[in-house]
Amino acid sequence: MSAHVSPGGFTGTSPVWLREPADVNALIPALWSSSARKDDGVLQVGGLAIPDLVADVNTPAYVLDEDDFRSRARAFRDGFAGYDVYYAGKAFLCTAVARWVAEEGLCLDVCSDGELTVALRAGTAPARIGYHGNNKTAMELRRAVDAGVGRIIVDSFHEIERVADVARQLGVRQGVMVRVTAGVEAHTHEFIATAHEDQKFGFSISSGDAFDAASRVVAHDSLELRGLHSHIGSQIFDTSGWEVAARRVLALHARIGAELGRVLPELDLGGGFGIAYTTQDDPADPAVLAEQITKIVTGECAALGIPVPHLSIEPGRAIVGPAMCTVYTVGTVKQVALDGGASRTYVSVDGGMSDNIRTALYDADYSCTLASRASAAAPVLARVVGKHCESGDIVVKDEFLPGDIAPGDLVAVPGTGAYGRSMASNYNHALRPPVVAVKDGAARVIVRRETVEDLLATDIG
Ligand code: LLP
Repeated sequence: MSAHVSPGGFTGTSPVWLREPADVNALIPALWSSSARKDDGVLQVGGLAIPDLVADVNTPAYVLDEDDFRSRARAFRDGFAGYDVYYAGKAFLCTAVARWVAEEGLCLDVCSDGELTVALRAGTAPARIGYHGNNKTAMELRRAVDAGVGRIIVDSFHEIERVADVARQLGVRQGVMVRVTAGVEAHTHEFIATAHEDQKFGFSISSGDAFDAASRVVAHDSLELRGLHSHIGSQIFDTSGWEVAARRVLALHARIGAELGRVLPELDLGGGFGIAYTTQDDPADPAVLAEQITKIVTGECAALGIPVPHLSIEPGRAIVGPAMCTVYTVGTVKQVALDGGASRTYVSVDGGMSDNIRTALYDADYSCTLASRASAAAPVLARVVGKHCESGDIVVKDEFLPGDIAPGDLVAVPGTGAYGRSMASNYNHALRPPVVAVKDGAARVIVRRETVEDLLATDIG
């Protein structure tokens, strides 16, 4: 953190990475969907002026740039040519998005009965669905197997028996992947490789559980072991974590071939591809990542003397994250004195941790911009906060906004597509905002705003 005095006379404490902008009205293109631009200070997305859009749908609202979503999906599909790309629906899923995913040739990863229901409703081919989760119930498994889901990623010994039973009862041979823990934990630019794994997902390779799980799967006639699955973390920017994981997972893959006589046809390396939330982040192009990951896997397979399995990945954030922004209306603006004579401008908006929990939950950084007008005022260091009843209800911890920011202004936060709406809550009985898809100058509400009636529908008195 460093002390900051802006030309506007406000002082504040800003993180070292945050630079005062030369033009506080300008967008930082890397943080926004590809169609986002400013026209005389007014934010346009998908060919629509944001103030016109919110005149119809009100705020807060999630605005999803359909072409941007589709082009990011295609960038993964084409960059990772020869792979199956499963869009991780947990990042954001609704019927329209599941359709776009299928239309762009991607498969779909779901991890609950609710997500499966949306996928099937959208007409997703069941064979192109992968089903995750560390505690799927017998009912969920029955529905998934009955629907013809292509692969179930098993995560525990209990579950192996459960899926095997369900498949036997339904008279099918169910495709299964074994989720393994490679002892790699990746987060942003760093990864940690450890010998043991103290978390709930997967079977540990180092303890021998992963090999035992594969042995148990192949012992069931009702199960078909398609391969191993490894997901190492989120918001990852370089391939060193995948490299260590791939080496460990492929060693197990080769051992299964040698000792169980099963040459597994597939291998899934999970998701976790990072995006730019602020200028601190510099994500690589999917094609570049693909080249590096493929090189790692093919090199390792050559060293082990085994054929390269059919590969798959599961990006969520990197497809939907940058395609969406959230638009809020400013309600109040306050100067708050800090230690040492500094002050911070608190800008309260009409949403908060109920529509974006990531700042409070993960200490995530975001950026934002004044979306409804140009301002000639000097930048001030601001904190954008929500309207919920706790002080940790912060949307954007630090950003420069024009010093004349005022009630009624619109503020837009980019990069909210992943885990924003999907982790939204009704905290303080907030009504979850709509998702509005924009494309070629037209807007379409694909998830409507909740109503008081929705809230009361479950409160049966
Ligand atoms: N595959 C598996 C097995 C996963 O567990 C996940 C994410 C993904 C794929 C997709 O990862 P992505 O490409 O979206 O990073 N709520 C947190 C992220 C939790 C991720 C959970 N698993 C957040 O908001 O950062």
